[in-house]
Amino acid sequence: MKTFELINLGSNYLKDRSILSSRLDSEIILSHIIGISRERLLITEKDINQDKIKEFKSLIYRRSKNEPIAYIIKNKEFRSTKFFVNKDALIPRPETELLIDPIISIFKRRNLFFLDVGIGTGCIIFSILNELQHSRAIGIDKSKQTIICAKKNLTDFKLKNRAKLMHRTAEKFFAYKFDLIVSNPPYIVNRDFRRLSKDITSYEPRSALDGGNDGLDVLRKVIYKSRSLLKTDGILALEIGTGQFKQVNKILSNNKFKIKKIIKDYKNNIRCIFSTLL
Ligand SMILES: C[S@@+](CC[C@H](N)C(=O)[O-])C[C@H]1O[C@@H](n2cnc3c(N)ncnc32)[C@H](O)[C@@H]1O
Repeated sequence: MKTFELINLGSNYLKDRSILSSRLDSEIILSHIIGISRERLLITEKDINQDKIKEFKSLIYRRSKNEPIAYIIKNKEFRSTKFFVNKDALIPRPETELLIDPIISIFKRRNLFFLDVGIGTGCIIFSILNELQHSRAIGIDKSKQTIICAKKNLTDFKLKNRAKLMHRTAEKFFAYKFDLIVSNPPYIVNRDFRRLSKDITSYEPRSALDGGNDGLDVLRKVIYKSRSLLKTDGILALEIGTGQFKQVNKILSNNKFKIKKIIKDYKNNIRCIFSTLL
């Protein structure tokens, strides 16, 4: 079977099962299987062997059951770098990229020692380490399985000598003083969870998304903990959910933090907050 026939076959199968991104997904799955970029795939008319066709069909079937494409092909791009991801870690989101540039620009001339609370794949911690060669970091996560996923990226990016990953909750972490604490905690209000798309609710770890009754359970813990873990002029950089700014601002000021910078996402929601201790 030829490339284009197979793309059409996969695309039609997904379309019939109401997958909106059917064509794109079919192309991504085939390019993953034959190991060439999607761009090249679209200009290459190739014969695909039986084994690859079988594999293609089985991945298309998984996608038809709403499994996210990133889990199927086991990677997701974050700031143009591919991160290994599996069902034990949240798939990195584009809005989280907004945290990175300001951190790079604040710390580019300093020896940075930072903490990432809730590392997931490690997209935040490893992006910073990759760009700031003089930085070192500790990453913690409450999920042991998530840490295993992040360790694969730690090895792939050859960052073992600059980062330590620990299976620990924010509540139970006491050591060191940091120049920066960064966190994208779970912030979905739990009663809103079932309104998310099936791709998310059926596959991504709930513990990476569910922020409790008001969505702020973990954020509160991170802010409280940061008071004792930050150096005097240290920075706390947080990603927050849509519409949470007012409440988070209050929690910050109750914990003696003042806001230094806010970053809006492309929908004009305040998505990231940078603050320091008063
Ligand atoms: C929204 S995900 C963010 C993952 C990654 N940093 C990213 O931006 O893609 C939140 C992460 O926090 C972890 N987590 C949840 N509660 C935690 C806690 N109390 N202490 C440490 N990590 C926690 C979850 O296991 C999950 O990996």
